Amino acid sequence: MALLLGVETSCDETAAAVVRDGRRVLSNVVLSQDVHEIYGGVVPELASREHIRTIAPVIRRALAEASVEGRDLDALAATTGPGLIGSLVVGLSVARAFAWSLGIPLVPVHHLEAHLYAIRLGFPETPFRFVALIVSGGHTELVHVRGEGDYALLGRTRDDAAGEAFDKAAKMTGLPYPGGPAVDRIARSGDRKAHAFPRARLEPETLDFSYSGVKTAVRYALQGDPSLAGTGKLSDLLASFQEAIVGPLVENARRALDRVGERRIAVCGGVAANARLREAFGEMASASGAELLLAPLEYCTDNAAMVASAGDAAFRLGKCAPLEQSASADPPLPFKD
Ligand code: KG4
Ligand code: ZN
Repeated sequence: MALLLGVETSCDETAAAVVRDGRRVLSNVVLSQDVHEIYGGVVPELASREHIRTIAPVIRRALAEASVEGRDLDALAATTGPGLIGSLVVGLSVARAFAWSLGIPLVPVHHLEAHLYAIRLGFPETPFRFVALIVSGGHTELVHVRGEGDYALLGRTRDDAAGEAFDKAAKMTGLPYPGGPAVDRIARSGDRKAHAFPRARLEPETLDFSYSGVKTAVRYALQGDPSLAGTGKLSDLLASFQEAIVGPLVENARRALDRVGERRIAVCGGVAANARLREAFGEMASASGAELLLAPLEYCTDNAAMVASAGDAAFRLGKCAPLEQSASADPPLPFKD
């Protein structure tokens, strides 16, 4: 039995959550910074300043909503990377100081491992063994999860991450940042077959992805006919683009299941909130008889509940950090090759 406070400040969400036994979320506070909107992307220096301003009230609120006090906690978990270094440092420093003042361990959490634990929050009784697709703004990875802390990398993007492609396509068509949710919404009324955007041709046996070609194809289509971004045509453009992103994700996940002999497929990370992606994975799972574990919507995009859950597993494995634990913008992946 362990009660953990999770802290997440890797990008532009200031988040804190209280989770019992890595499974029961007692509170999950996420403050999304809106200062970046007018710049069309996250401005790192502004992100750090916003974290400094809001981290203490966010933690206080997470404790209050869970009806928990600092002295009730068994450990603190904080994201140590990857992410924006200035942002990571804010959350980690506060977590270090809080852990020290309470005399409890600090558990360092890799952001990608945290995304995996969104699956545990959604499916607390399911064994932690599956093929997982982590799709976020910075990452697109297919991983064989063989148990807690035991992950093998099966495939990854060679250029843009899926979320990055969503954000860039949105920017090209004049949609606000972050573009993923807007593309998702507008594409719903579009025809997925209106445009035949290219799929990257990689070696037949690889489970890697490549999305820079799709992005370029959207740019050329818009240069050739700027009216495609106008009302009436935009939904077709975005639905077709979205299909070119989702198709390879589903196809490689299906092949990954066969390759490692698993029957459970998990999808997590910000892009896992996408409605078409969730539907397409549903179709693939029922056609191939696989069990589908979709991260619950509230734990897809960055949050601290998933950090606390990952921290709980690491805590039980004895992976606590010295109080001088530092952050890293680009730490090694927690997956074996
Ligand atoms: O996991 P996340 O919150 O942050 C990272 O770790 O990167 O993912 C953010 C990414 C952004 O690129 C955002 O546009 C994308 O997830 N995203 C979506 C949707 N919601 C968020 N992409 C497509 N459809 C969505 N509904
Ligand atoms: Zn993330």
